[in-house]
Amino acid sequence: MTAQLLDGKTLARELQDSMREKVDRFRQRHGAVPKLTAVLVGEDPASQVYVRNKQQACERVGLASDLIRLDAATTEDQLLACVMRLNADPAVHGILVQLPLPSRMSANRVLDAIDPRKDVDAFHPENVGLLSQGRPRFLPCTPHGVLQILHRYGLSVAGKRVVIVGRSDIVGRPLSLLLGAKDSHLGPDLCNATVTVCHSRTPDLAAVTAEADVLIAAIGRAKLIDARMVRPGAVVVDVGINRLESGLVGDVDFESVREVASHLTPVPGGIGPLTVAMLLHNTLHAAELAHA
Ligand code: GUN
Repeated sequence: MTAQLLDGKTLARELQDSMREKVDRFRQRHGAVPKLTAVLVGEDPASQVYVRNKQQACERVGLASDLIRLDAATTEDQLLACVMRLNADPAVHGILVQLPLPSRMSANRVLDAIDPRKDVDAFHPENVGLLSQGRPRFLPCTPHGVLQILHRYGLSVAGKRVVIVGRSDIVGRPLSLLLGAKDSHLGPDLCNATVTVCHSRTPDLAAVTAEADVLIAAIGRAKLIDARMVRPGAVVVDVGINRLESGLVGDVDFESVREVASHLTPVPGGIGPLTVAMLLHNTLHAAELAHA
């Protein structure tokens, strides 16, 4: 079997096209433009690329965006003061502090300071709590992107065994909540999975992943998942973005897994573009909340 590739790039473009119309309607109704402000501390090259992609995407759908660059020597208190200013600015609807922060800073302290109604990453404990109670305000962007691509290709998780490799706050944990929830805004196919979350200390990882009907790799280890770890016919979603000398690769060994999976997301061009599209979605939603 050769897997059908799940094209996140095209889906992200389609979602952005429909978002442009929603942004237009918002502007006409409220006489204001939804605005995302990103804060970047230091010169991390990958973060610079991510932030630039997010800003370009904002432009494409008609959202206002702003980037605050702080140099690597910025103190945590200075960053907190910056977040407070953005919290108080009614023209800013979404705030994104790009991670990772310099290691001397407490990311939790900074993220906790963001007004939860402007927290378009959905990292604030209030938003994590609402999600875990099944009444999310914002959906975290990458998990939401995974839901969107499964939805677009008509792939159901309901009643299926989903194995997620990786327990991060950004992807693995929130995704396990969403897929195991009782309902989903995308309908009955995107919830009620039986979810197993694996991590770097899971013994005999291959035995667990081989049980998955839907396998999601989000652990940040290049090509960790090979064909022997995948049940023939499984749906495989690769959330990893790893920089090797040879270029960007996912957490899935693409060449071998495409011979056994029924469906597979490529890297790049899979989940990455959807993360950005869902960030734009959350920014518009934050503006709607502010003007409700
Ligand atoms: N760094 C890597 N991924 C993300 C993300 O989704 N949001 C933020 N703020 N920083 C990141």
